[in-house]
Amino acid sequence: MIETIEQVRQTMERHAYVTDPAIATAVYLAMHLGKPILIEGQAGVGKTEVAKVLARVLNTELIRLQCYEGLDATTAHYEWNYPKQMLRIKLEERTDRPVEEKEALIFSLPFLLERPLLRAITRHDKAPVLLIDEIDRADEEFEAFLLEVLSDFQVTIPELGTVTATHRPHVVLTSNRTRELSDALKRRCLYLWIDYPTFEKELRIVLTKVPGANEALARQICAFVQTLRQIKLSKRPGVAETLDWAMSLIALHRDHLDAETVEATLGVILKDRDDIRQLGGERLGQVLAEAHTLTLDGRSPRATERIAADAPSA
Ligand SMILES: Nc1ncnc2c1ncn2[C@@H]1O[C@H](COP(=O)(O)OP(=O)(O)OP(=O)(O)O)[C@@H](O)[C@H]1O
Ligand SMILES: [Mg+2]
Repeated sequence: MIETIEQVRQTMERHAYVTDPAIATAVYLAMHLGKPILIEGQAGVGKTEVAKVLARVLNTELIRLQCYEGLDATTAHYEWNYPKQMLRIKLEERTDRPVEEKEALIFSLPFLLERPLLRAITRHDKAPVLLIDEIDRADEEFEAFLLEVLSDFQVTIPELGTVTATHRPHVVLTSNRTRELSDALKRRCLYLWIDYPTFEKELRIVLTKVPGANEALARQICAFVQTLRQIKLSKRPGVAETLDWAMSLIALHRDHLDAETVEATLGVILKDRDDIRQLGGERLGQVLAEAHTLTLDGRSPRATERIAADAPSA
């Protein structure tokens, strides 16, 4: 068991996840209190990655339940293997086994297909990490059903009885806030909001995740993306886009950012036609100039102005 928040930070970083105090504390508490952790934040800020890295840190299986509209309890729990059951029924036609026995046979474990929630509670050796990804995409009824699962960690299969978890899984839920989640669900979880990273954090992420990135180029990339996020765009770039951009620039053998390079590769960081158009021409030069200042001192001119305005006058 990991004993301190600092150990959580170090271990996650060893597995290539750059943390900050809020993330390390939330993960530490989730492990020690045995509570699910609900992570919200903008797209691409590293929510899902927390669960993946946690599984690597604990050297255990990652079981992922990807949520979508219309996902129902049965699909998330288990399903009967109908083709296999049908085949068995056919084979059993010629035997004179009693009907009750035949029925019991086709509704036994070998005919059961474990889906993520059942699998998460039937691991006998070790608690797995159960990632319930993008819970906001599932319907509210599914959320209500999930509440039961998260409080009891047991599944009742009418034909077989109740299965209870030997090891309670470590549960990570993520949401992109496309809808508000219920208070009841939030109450059962520890809550973590992951914001866009600061310049320093994003720089560390790029240097950690992109082999071959030189620091000067990485600083320019992060400064540019940080500056972009201050502009009103319909879809702001997440860390995923920053990493893709860094890898693209390396693939193009670029060692610094200039207007031409940025313009040619904008589609890697901006995924909306209007956003790309908005940034064309003169605007691009302004963003590059502002990003350049940020590259030099880690602060954007706007941030510097704000800091100056907030400072008490001498
Ligand atoms: N702190 C971090 N340290 C290392 N890598 C990170 C970090 N944050 C994000 N990443 C990387 O950024 C990418 C996007 O992360 P992830 O898929 O976890 O985002 P997300 O918040 O789940 O996005 P979405 O809402 O689109 O599902 C991944 O490649 C991940 O490795
Ligand atoms: Mg995700």
